[in-house]
Amino acid sequence: MQVVSIISTKGGVGKTTTAANLGGLAADAGLRVLLLDLDVQPTLSSYFELTHRAQGGIYELLAFNEQSLEQLVSRTAVTGLDVVLSNDDRGDLNTLLLHAPDGRLRLRHLLPMLASRYDLVLIDTQGARSVLLEMAVLASNLALSPVTPEILAARELRRGTLQLIDDLAPYRHLGINPPPLHLLINRVHPVSTNARLIHQSLRHVFQARSGVQVLTAIVPAIETYPRASTRRLPVHRIEQRAPTGRVAPAALDTMRTLACELFPAWCDKFASVTGKPQTNGETRSDDNGPRL
Ligand SMILES: Nc1ncnc2c1ncn2[C@@H]1O[C@H](COP(=O)(O)OP(=O)(O)O)[C@@H](O)[C@H]1O
Ligand SMILES: [Mg+2]
Repeated sequence: MQVVSIISTKGGVGKTTTAANLGGLAADAGLRVLLLDLDVQPTLSSYFELTHRAQGGIYELLAFNEQSLEQLVSRTAVTGLDVVLSNDDRGDLNTLLLHAPDGRLRLRHLLPMLASRYDLVLIDTQGARSVLLEMAVLASNLALSPVTPEILAARELRRGTLQLIDDLAPYRHLGINPPPLHLLINRVHPVSTNARLIHQSLRHVFQARSGVQVLTAIVPAIETYPRASTRRLPVHRIEQRAPTGRVAPAALDTMRTLACELFPAWCDKFASVTGKPQTNGETRSDDNGPRL
């Protein structure tokens, strides 16, 4: 099971968009995917239509160590894509975890119960430094951080996200290594911005840092992303071909490229995604086990 936290100490950089679209693509590729919405504002929780709403959500998982997946996991209209909904309306979890001796490790300790059910867990987080964010990072084997092209965002990244990873270094003494950080350049204007230049300068800024990698995949700023969110669909389902005259590639191609770079072992599966929703005739890796 791969666990990816999608993090940034800055808001509005595309964390939720990335979680929803990556999750949607992976599910359409036949993987069993679970989204964890750790943001107090339930943007990811409301992205997809639900076909089943569980009674509990992230609060029961983290505050009560609830172990019954039936109580926790809701199902989306995208086959194979489940979600643990954000339901910490009053923002109590942070304080609770701050004072719990196992606070920052709680999610990490809960992961084994998900390992037989899911291939991929994507954790969406709030755009601010918090115990929840640190907990998400410590639970993941890869941290993905969208960065928007403005130089300010890069500064904020150095000050915020990298500092966060540094601060978690003492957990090495417990045998827990902070995950590698992958930077995803998101919302690059296809015409007015020189994507390659941004890529080079980000690389230059972070070259001295081990464990930090700037992804080759770049996500252009196109209105297909907000449109997909309005239609409550993963973006690859609504754009399989780039409109004539547009420089940016089709959203399906962008998401496939990104997914392949992040998870090379599943590249074949991503290549088979057509953009059409899965039909019942197609096999999934969990076909012989009961669904929740
Ligand atoms: N590549 C993109 N092109 C155009 N709009 C984007 C892109 N990525 C994200 N957006 C839009 O930017 C806004 C903020 O994105 P969101 O994923 O909610 O950010 P975060 O979760 O980091 O706060 C949303 O309206 C989203 O639709
Ligand atoms: Mg968000």
